[in-house]
Amino acid sequence: MAALNPAAAPSLAGVLDPIIPRVAAWMAQRGDALSLAQGMVHWAPPEGVDEALIAALRQARANPDRPDGLHRYGPGAGDPELVEAISRCLVDHHQLDLSASDVWISAGSNMAFQLVVRAICDPGDAVIVPLPWYFNHAMAIQLAGAEPVGVAAGLVPDPERLAAAITPRTRAIVTVSPGNPSGVVMPQPVLAAIGALCARHGLFHLSDEAYALFRHAAEPHWSPGRTSGSGAHTVTFQTFSKAYGMAGWRLGYAAVPQQLCPALRKLQDTVLIAPSRPVQRAGLAALAAGPAWCQPRIASLDPARRQLQELPRQLQNQGLEARWLGRLDGAFYGLLEVAGPWAGEALVRRLLLDFGVATLPGESFGLATQPGRAVLRLSYGMLQGEALQQALQRLRQGLVRLAQE
Ligand SMILES: Cc1ncc(COP(=O)(O)O)c(C=O)c1O
Repeated sequence: MAALNPAAAPSLAGVLDPIIPRVAAWMAQRGDALSLAQGMVHWAPPEGVDEALIAALRQARANPDRPDGLHRYGPGAGDPELVEAISRCLVDHHQLDLSASDVWISAGSNMAFQLVVRAICDPGDAVIVPLPWYFNHAMAIQLAGAEPVGVAAGLVPDPERLAAAITPRTRAIVTVSPGNPSGVVMPQPVLAAIGALCARHGLFHLSDEAYALFRHAAEPHWSPGRTSGSGAHTVTFQTFSKAYGMAGWRLGYAAVPQQLCPALRKLQDTVLIAPSRPVQRAGLAALAAGPAWCQPRIASLDPARRQLQELPRQLQNQGLEARWLGRLDGAFYGLLEVAGPWAGEALVRRLLLDFGVATLPGESFGLATQPGRAVLRLSYGMLQGEALQQALQRLRQGLVRLAQE
């Protein structure tokens, strides 16, 4: 009898397909491709991270029976030393009011987001996500059986338009500032208005601040969790992946309203049990280096940002209409709109395989395809100097040639 292979649950078919693995496969195929796609930075973590990790491992080897040893499961929310250091950083550096919040550490802030969404949503619930969205947010909401409601409210979302999308099913509103994919930094009054909207309607404000330290212009970063008393409805997500160059370490965290902790305890215990203890030691050392260590590295992105800012003018000189959607004020991304017959994944694939430069399609961030116009997300976190110039040259060449097809 032919084997009837059991299949994945049908509900997974309704979850967005991740674009990154497809782009990675094309990168591997092309071999010499340069990446303006990857959401990572060019620097390694603080040196103290290596030393702290080695010292902790030596200590664990010398004291194998210690109950707080590195090789044993730790507390679900995270090791108290790191929870304490993160809380201090959130209060001292970001001025958060944590009086109604607890810090939960996880294997990256994506995982924290997933757990929080699962903690607040039942199947059939809805979460408002201003467009363009960060695709993993939409996917996490779908995985919880809820609906990500993409709202075209502007790159700096208009709170009134978000308010108009609230229904009895709505559980939360998401903001990402500084923005991925737009690079836009949302002004304080807008974030405060969205926070107030959430408070008024009994919704959670899910504030993804992965790029909190990445500000390149006058607009300062502002955390909605700074508003006094906002901790009862605000979840602040941050990560070691970006500013500390630790994407591969998988270490992120969330400041979470205390009333969610019983639910989170169940979720964390089932999914991760507890965050990795060696990695938390590394995180502690990274925080000891602190935002002051990150600042000059973040400033080192400025020449790349300036080169990208020139791109629309250069394309226009070559006869191609182009512009940035929004100012490149934060994170290390921007959305480039260009005229031409190609768009979406087909354009990204051609640029990568035929011209050797990786980008991401605007469509993967929930943007609708517009006839005769393409939107690409470009990242300037990884490439510098010659390599960046080469990547931008390939991009210009590819866009100009493909526009003629
Ligand atoms: C807005 C945003 N949030 C979260 C993440 C993922 O962070 P982590 O590595 O901590 O899971 C990313 C990664 O690109 C991101 O852009």
